[in-house]
Formats: sequence, structure tokens, C-alpha cells
Amino acid sequence: MEELPTEDDPQPKLDPASLRMTAANALIRRRRTIKPADMQDKPVENLHLATILENANSAPTHGKTEPWRFTVFSGDGRQRVADFLPALYKKSTSEEDFRQDKFEKLGKQPLMAPVVIAICMKRQAIEKIPEIEEIEAVACAVQNMHLTASALGLAAFWSTPPIVYSDEMRIWLGLESEKDKCLGFFYLGWPREDFEWPESTRGGIAEKVTFIHN
Ligand SMILES: Cc1cc2nc3c(=O)[nH]c(=O)nc-3n(C[C@H](O)[C@H](O)[C@H](O)COP(=O)(O)O)c2cc1C
Repeated sequence: MEELPTEDDPQPKLDPASLRMTAANALIRRRRTIKPADMQDKPVENLHLATILENANSAPTHGKTEPWRFTVFSGDGRQRVADFLPALYKKSTSEEDFRQDKFEKLGKQPLMAPVVIAICMKRQAIEKIPEIEEIEAVACAVQNMHLTASALGLAAFWSTPPIVYSDEMRIWLGLESEKDKCLGFFYLGWPREDFEWPESTRGGIAEKVTFIHN
């Protein structure tokens, strides 16, 4: 019979690159959109929030403009979002397009997630970097947040109802320049106790890549 290993036995050599790769693959492929309806009423620790925001701040940025801006609503602060979003939806939607269920959801969702983060893009004053690249940098920051949330076991959801792109939304968030933009809301919270982390599928990569060898 094989003997049990002891602490004196030589430790197997773990290659740091393989370990990093295993962790990166697991993290990236496990990240999922999990909505406020599946979150529980339990605060997100400040340390977790700080890590998530610090990692957002490590996103790539052309011209080092660091265009990402966030407003974090928690506790009673969420009521402001819960009041504003449905009001803006009602104001900016024609009677014909208005949907009562959407209206109600906009008011409920911010109170179902312990943390609601407005995602914003601050446009470079001299506008040297193309706007699309500023938006891309913010999207990278959001992905960093989402991956960090997943690593912590937190549920997260990037929500973009069309009203987020309006001037009213920008002004409400205190974004001064007309060139600044709100790019949505990031809902964050602990998943319900009985929640099963979802699987997701993607079409194959082969359909999306062209290789040119010569
Ligand atoms: C820029 C962006 C905006 C999104 N906005 C919404 C949204 O408004 N509503 C929604 O249900 N999902 C939204 N999503 C999340 C997608 O629905 C989600 O990523 C997709 O279903 C794949 O699921 P997964 O994130 O779990 O892989 C958004 C995702 C991105 C990248």
C-alpha cells in the first residue's frame, strides 16, 4: 500500500505560469451576469468594493486619459436611483412605447442590489483620443470589475436601459461636459444562498477568427 505523504516529503514543483493560467481560465470562463433578482439583502464589504474599484482603475487606457468615472450608491443612497430611473423612463417614453413592467422594474432593481454603481465616461477635454477608445477603456474597466466580483463570489450585472445614454441621465450624475456619458449601471451583491452559479455557452471561436499565414 502507498504511504501517506508527510510534510517532510519534497513538495511537487508548481510552475507559476501554469498556476496563473489555470486561475485566469477559470475566472474568465466562470464570470456570469447575475441580476438583482438573484441577489440577497446582505451588504458588500467595503474591502471587496475597494478591490473591485482598484481593479477597474487598472484598465488599459489610450493616452492615459483614465476616462472611467463611477458613482457608488448603497444603503439609502440607492433610493435616489430607484426614484430617478422610472421617472426618466416615463418622461422620455411615448405613451405608445411605455411599458408598465419596465417602469416598475427600473424602480425595483436598484433596491434589490446592495450596491449600484453608475458607470461613466469622462471625455478628454482636448478630444485627441477618439471617443470610441474612451468608451472601450471604460468597458475594459467594467470587465475588470466583473471579473473581480466573480473571483470574490459576488453577483454582478451591467445594465444599459436606453435612458442611461440621455442628457438628463448625464446631468443627474453631475457629468459636466456634454461630451461625457453614462454607460449604464453595475449592480453588485451576494447571490442568494440557494443560487446555482449559471453556465453559459458561446458559439465557437473558429467562426469568429480569421487566420492569415502569408
Ligand atoms: C455593454 C453591455 C451592456 C449590457 N446591458 C444589458 C442590459 O441592459 N440588460 C441585460 O439583461 N443584460 C445586459 N448585458 C449583459 C448581457 O446580457 C450578458 O453579458 C449576456 O447575456 C451573456 O451572459 P454572461 O455575461 O453571463 O456571459 C450587457 C452586457 C454588456 C457587455
